[in-house]
Amino acid sequence: MPLSRSEILGWLRESDETRLAELWQRANDARQKCVGDAVHLRGLIEISNYCVRHCGYCGLNASRRGLQRYRMSEDEILSCAREAVRLGYGTVVMQAGEDYGVTGQFVARIVRRIKVETPLAVTLSLGERPDEDLALWRDAGADRYLLRFETSDPQLYDLIHPASLQNPSDRLAIQYTLRGLGYEVGSGVKVGIRGQNYDSLADDLETFRRLNLDMIGIGPYIQHPDTPLALRPPSITLPESEQAPNSDLMTCKVVALSRLMCPYANIPSTTALAILNQENGRELGLSRGANVVMPNLTPIKYRALYDIYPDKDCIIETAEEGNSQLHARIEGLGRSVGTGPGNSLAQRH
Ligand code: 5AD
Repeated sequence: MPLSRSEILGWLRESDETRLAELWQRANDARQKCVGDAVHLRGLIEISNYCVRHCGYCGLNASRRGLQRYRMSEDEILSCAREAVRLGYGTVVMQAGEDYGVTGQFVARIVRRIKVETPLAVTLSLGERPDEDLALWRDAGADRYLLRFETSDPQLYDLIHPASLQNPSDRLAIQYTLRGLGYEVGSGVKVGIRGQNYDSLADDLETFRRLNLDMIGIGPYIQHPDTPLALRPPSITLPESEQAPNSDLMTCKVVALSRLMCPYANIPSTTALAILNQENGRELGLSRGANVVMPNLTPIKYRALYDIYPDKDCIIETAEEGNSQLHARIEGLGRSVGTGPGNSLAQRH
């Protein structure tokens, strides 16, 4: 039974630890029953940090000066994919800013090569690309696409995503296009950006369910000093009692509620949560509903440049080191590392 609106709001506002223990328990039970104990690892390759968009929260936004930009070559990307295979991962995720220097044909060629040369599932996270690109990549063999809708509040969306005439933004429409093309579809939101209230988070959770998402990414908002939202904060402020905090606790509540709303979805314990709570953020996510981790396979020399939010590269570690640490953390929770592609079960239920 999905949660009612008033139950969702009740949990989002709950502060009593004993009561919250019940939410964690329910989310963990649903996770175990519906997607099992395996934690699937998705190797993240950040293929370009160029971006044409002006998202107010993101350190890659087009107006940012002083950030050195990079684009990985085909060979560099393929060698990251081979590293994923070597480390036993079943999936790679190619992510970038919205960069038209990364052409449709370039991505299609790489997807084809990965599908021919490796057993990997391929996930793309390349922004609001035209339908022709999305179709071309699906034909080339891409399995999944991630595009967070970021918030279901249209006013807040417009405030944090200034659209240009050449680039109008309609992420929900793209989710339906992706579904029609046969992709596994992923989306999600940040938690605690200024102007986000409890009602809007409840709308987000209901939207996850309505879209029947295969993948749901939830992380805390982490302010980046070199972004429009930090440099020119909008004047709207909510009363403190309405503003959702960008805490690890609030993020965990949204992860747990996502699991209850979409029990068969693949849900990562995100890097942003692991950065906000470096001691045990990863574990908290995994024990409160998440079943996926996305270790970073980007070559070290590019890591700091993919600067979407601060401290992202505090986890400066080679893929190899990260991998053995991660195995230990997962096994420490009594869970196992997933094998195979770890496809979504959401469309079968
Ligand atoms: N804080 C948290 N998450 C962020 N993202 C971008 N900027 C920030 C930030 N400042 C997230 C967006 C995007 C994902 C790749 O990173 O939600 O979808």
